[in-house]
Order: sequence, then C-alpha cells, then structure tokens
Amino acid sequence: MSSADFATRSPFVHQGIRQVVRDITPSQIREVAHLGMGRKNVVPLWFGEPDQPTPEFIRKAAMDALAAGDTFYQPNAGIAPLREALAGYMNGLYQTALTPDNVIVTVSGLNAIMVTLQAVLAAGDHLVTTAPIWPNIVAIPRVLGADVSTVPLRADGEKGGWQLDLDALFAACGANTKVILLNTPNNPTGWMMPADDQARLVEFADKHGIWIIADEVYARLVYNGQDCAPSFVPLMTENRRIMVINSFSKAWAMTGWRLGWITAPAAITGELEKLMEFNVSCPAGFIQQAGIVALHDGEDFVVSSRNRYARSRKVLVERLSNMPRIMLPEAEAAFYAFFKVEGVSDTLSFAKNLLLDEGIGLAPGEAFGPEGAGYIRACYAVSEARIHQAMDGLERFLARN
Ligand SMILES: Cc1ncc(COP(=O)(O)O)c(C=O)c1O
Repeated sequence: MSSADFATRSPFVHQGIRQVVRDITPSQIREVAHLGMGRKNVVPLWFGEPDQPTPEFIRKAAMDALAAGDTFYQPNAGIAPLREALAGYMNGLYQTALTPDNVIVTVSGLNAIMVTLQAVLAAGDHLVTTAPIWPNIVAIPRVLGADVSTVPLRADGEKGGWQLDLDALFAACGANTKVILLNTPNNPTGWMMPADDQARLVEFADKHGIWIIADEVYARLVYNGQDCAPSFVPLMTENRRIMVINSFSKAWAMTGWRLGWITAPAAITGELEKLMEFNVSCPAGFIQQAGIVALHDGEDFVVSSRNRYARSRKVLVERLSNMPRIMLPEAEAAFYAFFKVEGVSDTLSFAKNLLLDEGIGLAPGEAFGPEGAGYIRACYAVSEARIHQAMDGLERFLARN
C-alpha cells in the first residue's frame, strides 16, 4: 500500500504523522520483489542476501540454547561472552587491542545505525554520506530530523571502478555537520574506501570534531585476495569520534536472525547501552549464543562462502562484459554487480518488465538515490547456475528491448 493510499483512508489521522515519515517513499526494490513473489520460476537477485540458509552448526547452537531455556531478557550491551568473542574476533582480524567495553551487541546492523545516529545526531544537524547508497542510510537520519547531503561516487573517471572525490566530501561538510556516515564496502556499488583515504578522512574529522560512522557489514566480502576490507576499527582510539557498525547477516548468512554490533570508544558505549534499552532492550539470548558459535567455529564458512561468491561474481562479470549496451564498473567487494544499461533511464520499469517477461528479479538503481539512475543491481550471492539463468534471461530481454 502506498503513502497516498494511507492518506485517503483518513486524511485527518494521516496528517498527524510527522512529515519526515510521510515523505519516505516505499522501497522500489520491494516494489519489484512484490510483483515477483509467488510467481513460478523467478530468479530473484533483488535482495542483498545469500541464497543458502545459515550453516547447521550455528542453527544448532540457537536450538540448544532454546532447549536449555534461554528465553529471558539479557543485558542491554549484549551478553559478556559474545562481547568478549567480538573483541577477540576483531583483534585477530585487525591486530587491535579492543576489550568487551568497546563492543555493544545490537539487533542487526540496521539497529546499530539507528542507535549510533540517535546518540550523536539532533534534529537540524547535518550528515554527509556517499551515493548511490543503501536507502536506509539516508532515511534514518532524516527520520531523526537531520539534513542529509550525498556526495556522488563516480564510475566515469580514468582510473576505472568507483571513485570518491575526498575533497568533494570535505566540501560538503559545514558548521552543522555532525556525522560523516560511510558504507564501505559499499552497497550497491562494491566500492571500498582505500586505507590512505581513510587516514585523510580521520584527520579531517578529528580537526572539525565530526563523527565518522562506518557501516562495514560487508567487511569480509572482498575478492582481491585480502581477508577483509580496509577498516576504521584500527583507526578508532579512545580520543577519536569513530564508531563502526557490523553485522552477522552477510558473512555468516544470518540475515533473518537480526544480530549485529557496534565498535566504539569505551567512554561512550555506556551511552549506547542506554539507547539499546529504549529501542529493543537486547537481542534474544539464544541468538547471541549462536553468534558466539559463529565467531568461534565459523571462519571456514566465511571463507568458503566468499570463495563461492567469487566464482559467481566471475561468471556474472564475464557474462555482463560480453553483453552489448552494458557498462559494469569494476568493484572488488560486497556481493553486487551495479551496472548501467545504455539507453535505459527508468530502471524501475526496466526491472518490472524484465521480471514479467523473463522471470529475472533485479533491483532498480533509482532505489539507491538519484545518483543510481540508469543502473541496475544484481546480487551474486547465489550459485553459478542461477547467475547463468539470470544472464540468459537478461540477454534475451535486451535483444528485444
Ligand atoms: C549497507 C548495509 N548496511 C546495513 C545493512 C543491514 O544489515 P542487517 O541485516 O544487519 O540489518 C545492509 C543490508 O542490506 C546493508 O546493505
């Protein structure tokens, strides 16, 4: 149901809802997906999630905890063994010296974005991010009454691949700017902020007292031979305004569990803990138990699923590169191909028609802001066979349209 449909039910009641909420447009990805759900023989590459369920050993950990009666409220910051395991996991990955006091367990990466922004952003404050971008990243600050500016990632430069002009990012910041929110590796483009740019950004943010909030939920999904993307975690110190958001959703195939975490200076995790109480209280205990097992025993799964996505990515890149009218900027992270189709500006209609004609479900680029116009996103966290199937359909469709 659209916002206009709600408004006609009872305009008086509807007008009582805050304008920023009424202004939110329903997700265009959902618009395509709802058209396709329930249809037979659809290849759905519209959402950002792996096609396989969470590994059995992680599911079993949750079932064992439930069977043992783990059904009670938990601490707002998360259970101690999971905070401990998360600090240990990051110290191993980034050679840091984090303690459990640097970690808050959240109900998903999304909840982590909400809580970190609630902590630092007041109505009228200004936030800067890049675009195209996952729509929730601009919607949440707007719901909180903040102003949002986006700085475009560009794929038309000489270097190839997506680039961010850091000076343009700095120029977008003003006296009211409280937060630079970066999603790296990036959804939908697969762009990663290089380590030297991160260092420059930290210097700029330090100087101006601006918070850096880094959404790193795709940190482990990199295809350049590294084990993780350049991260803001090692740049965080007790004196720096940096918070990093992460999630179990993508690397451990746990999207439906809603488990994530925030890494922050120990001086402020107590404040975040208070906000957790008002948002969700805490993640369920049995889900946190599964998180501990995912961290302790899940490394082989993280690596093997990344290798699987790398194979599907290779097929997808090869197929798209051989299609006329397709321009695919290089990207070495996350699990999306974000490509342009020459001659197509309305990608929402394109995605709907592709679905109706060929049963291929892709996400329209406009869903990621006006900067995404003309692009289409395909999630490749699926089998190579599925990628071939989707590409066969796209090829047929492009030949006709
Ligand atoms: C950039 C980005 N951040 C956060 C999330 C949310 O992840 P979670 O499932 O942990 O809420 C997503 C999910 O698609 C995402 O793409």
